Amino acid sequence: MSNGDIQKIQSHFKGKDIVSLEQFDSPSIKLLFKTVQKIKKNPEKYSSILKNKLAVLLFYEPSSRTFSSHAAAVKRLGGLTIEYQNPMQTSSAVKGETLADTVRVFENYADIIIMRHFQMGASIEAAHYASVPVINAGDGIGEHPTQALLDMFTLYEKFGSLDGITGVLVGDLLYGRTVHSLIKGFSLFKKVKLYLLSPKNLRVDPELIKKYKKYVNLIEIEKIEDMPKKADFWYWTRVQKERFKNIKDYEAVKNSFLLTSDLLKRRGSRDMLVMHPLPRVNELDSAIDSDPRAVYLTKQIKNGMFVRMALLGLVLGKI
Ligand code: NCD
Repeated sequence: MSNGDIQKIQSHFKGKDIVSLEQFDSPSIKLLFKTVQKIKKNPEKYSSILKNKLAVLLFYEPSSRTFSSHAAAVKRLGGLTIEYQNPMQTSSAVKGETLADTVRVFENYADIIIMRHFQMGASIEAAHYASVPVINAGDGIGEHPTQALLDMFTLYEKFGSLDGITGVLVGDLLYGRTVHSLIKGFSLFKKVKLYLLSPKNLRVDPELIKKYKKYVNLIEIEKIEDMPKKADFWYWTRVQKERFKNIKDYEAVKNSFLLTSDLLKRRGSRDMLVMHPLPRVNELDSAIDSDPRAVYLTKQIKNGMFVRMALLGLVLGKI
């Protein structure tokens, strides 16, 4: 699979890689969401569908949630895992082995490769070499499809549809890969309005805006005061310190937009969701955690596991 021809899902997940939201159309997303709902309703029924299946988790970048959520998903479906955290220190990558060789070795052991990598496009490269499906668990500043799908599922569960939804994406929209996948994902639904609030130098890549603004209403704003009075969700993100070449540049923007209880009181609406992919640094006040609208430590996390269970079951042809 090369960069140019990412396989479309078209409601047939079996054997496909999951590397980008560009592979999806709205029927495929709805099929995924229906599957998630079925698993959530009766997880017991699915508890051994991955019997004798093995997933290898290759995480070249730090992760707590995405790593354990995928591992939990495999195990909750009765499957097995080989887990590599930090292969740059612990695998033959230390000796200079290429990614192509690493995946060609692991495909001999495993039925699926779940990979996080520091380089944008790495999962596409891995998918190109691997004969087993590859799931992108985050590729540098590229995408984070499973996170976006769990975010969208959480909104779908709350509002019953993603059509007509209005959201505000806040923070590091340049380096934040979850946001890139979300913009692509929301472009598949009707009348979605996304306000994009970020420091000037952390705006969404203009190329991405240009490509997707035909399908989703993208409104770039610069100040908290420009946020809409009534949004269905706020999606706060951290400034991605590790992507900055110069720490001073990070320091200059890290506190640009802070979500405090006061802001939620002033600008939040009653029936909204407050979301964050986590980890948070200081942009999201923990005083909000107990607010019923806050779902970043609850529904987003739980749904993350169920969405990944559904994806694994579909991709491995067991659902
Ligand atoms: C995000 C990521 O890794 O892109 N975290 C996650 O997987 N939930 C967001 C981030 O690191 O800021």
